[in-house]
Amino acid sequence: MKIILDSVDIVQIQKWAYFIDGVTTNPTLLAKNGSDPLTRIKEILALLPGKDVSVEVTELEPDAMYAQAHKIAKLGSNVLVKIPCHKDYYPVIARLVNDGIKLNITLVFSLFQALSMCKLGVVYISPFIGRLDDHDIDGSELLFQLRGTIDAYNYKTQILAASIRSVLHVHEALLAGVDAITMPVKVLELAAEHQLTDQGIATFNADWQKLGISKFP
Ligand code: E4P
Repeated sequence: MKIILDSVDIVQIQKWAYFIDGVTTNPTLLAKNGSDPLTRIKEILALLPGKDVSVEVTELEPDAMYAQAHKIAKLGSNVLVKIPCHKDYYPVIARLVNDGIKLNITLVFSLFQALSMCKLGVVYISPFIGRLDDHDIDGSELLFQLRGTIDAYNYKTQILAASIRSVLHVHEALLAGVDAITMPVKVLELAAEHQLTDQGIATFNADWQKLGISKFP
């Protein structure tokens, strides 16, 4: 199970670097952050050697996208290039896979889209769970369907559950057996917490203090 941070917050990435298996970025996250995107991406890459850092293309025209993907890939050996799962980009995706570029196909919303990308041999597909839920479609159900079909066809492409908005999404992704989950820092922290853990620590501490022991062991 890989845990990926869906963030460009350098402080948080540094804090969680020992635990996470990578970072996903996208144009929206970079735009909201406000710092220079290239500088920020380089900082993230330097913090996570040997891990998976996904950087999305911004060009829309296929040939320009192809050239940009190569430039992004050259930023580091830990880069995966994110390409949107649109039929106009299938030829670009096929060429890039053939060139040996590691791809994370983003904005995946259906079984056929996902399996088509597996057929082309990309490293990751990113089904967007939260955005499906936004449209009253059960995003988590797609994860179960993907796990079953990808295994049945024996494809090597990994499922990276994305657009994760809640701890419930995290647990559903785990139950579906996805290979990786990318989540915002807030969701990671919530998933790692439990009020009964906090209560238990407080109770153990209160009982221990009653003994009045200052040195142990
Ligand atoms: C993943 O690669 C995306 O950056 C991200 O999960 C999108 O999430 P959102 O739908 O909450 O914007």
